[in-house]
Amino acid sequence: MSDKLWIFDTTLRDGEQVPGCQLNTQEKVVVAKALEALGVDIIEAGFPISSPGDFNSVLEISKAVSNPIICALSRAVEKDIDVAAQSLKFAKRGRIHTGIGVSPYHIQFKLRSTPVDIIARGVAAVKYAKRFVEDVEFYAEDAGRSEPDFLCRIIEEVIKAGATVVNIPDTTGYCLPEQYGAIIANLKNNVPNIDRAIIATHCHNDLGMATANTVAGVQHGARQVEVTINGIGERAGNTSLEEVVMAIKCHKSIPVYTGIVTPKIYQTSRLVSKLMNMPVQPNKAIVGRNAFAHSSGIHQDGVLKHRENYEIIDPKEVGVDESTIVLTARSGRAALKHHLDALGVELEGEELREVYEAFLILADSKRDIGRKDLLGLVGKFMEES
Ligand code: KIV
Ligand code: ZN
Repeated sequence: MSDKLWIFDTTLRDGEQVPGCQLNTQEKVVVAKALEALGVDIIEAGFPISSPGDFNSVLEISKAVSNPIICALSRAVEKDIDVAAQSLKFAKRGRIHTGIGVSPYHIQFKLRSTPVDIIARGVAAVKYAKRFVEDVEFYAEDAGRSEPDFLCRIIEEVIKAGATVVNIPDTTGYCLPEQYGAIIANLKNNVPNIDRAIIATHCHNDLGMATANTVAGVQHGARQVEVTINGIGERAGNTSLEEVVMAIKCHKSIPVYTGIVTPKIYQTSRLVSKLMNMPVQPNKAIVGRNAFAHSSGIHQDGVLKHRENYEIIDPKEVGVDESTIVLTARSGRAALKHHLDALGVELEGEELREVYEAFLILADSKRDIGRKDLLGLVGKFMEES
């Protein structure tokens, strides 16, 4: 039996915190509609108290989008919650996401408070938010570095106060997958009312572990993942939506499914990259330019014989037309033949060997070998035929 995994997209809130990536309301509405078409379940549309622009964006996204739940962030402060609630007034289904720091660092140095006071503030915030919406998510900021028994206590209390989702952020991207999985398992095993709420993962990528930590969280019982398109977000970013969704699709041993329309992944990635002016690194998993490009001779030969020799995902599944066989000085004869065949030049045996030798000399001196170069190499044979 497999469970639904709720996809909570925070591209427009945590993702948009990246310097230089700010979007105006109109652009945010475009992204929100693309996220709806992609099939995300919850859109975190902004942090309404932070600016009039963010407030307005949550309002407009609530009007423009029908299927996903619209979520607004707030601190555990009544004024924040009031503004978040107002911003959600047009949402068909609205959620307030409130919370407070729970690690010794946050309690002592950021909030200058005590564990008892932190629990009281978390509980009061959830109860206050419940006056406006039924669906209240609580975030335990910096849970990744929190003290396990304290985390269990606060999570139990906010669930009793009415939290429908409990978010366990690894805010600083500190955890290793085994540690993050153990935090979720500890909550599952030791919080008496844990089954009354959904556990959410929210991981940052400071050690490059965000996807691995998120998957570990799901394997230990989390049923909501908080993600962004292309993994954008504070510092090294958040967990990337496309990586988690495809990891789950590839590994049937993880007993969950998502509602993501995977063939829309690539176009959504490009849209976010373009609007946010944030290039996608070429080797980025799933959506990078090279994610389905084969350049070494051994791999090219293998993939031309059978795609699955070197591909675990059919590129079409994520909206990429086809894999590419890139011509470089490391390419083999099979790759060259593949490209020549596509040009309508079918060479075999000695002729192919001759062209391949000339190709290697050219490829050693040139980064990109294109159509024009190939036509130059085979010109002699075309004249003869
Ligand atoms: O990383 C984090 O802890 C957050 C919370 C505000 C949810 O983004
Ligand atoms: Zn975050």
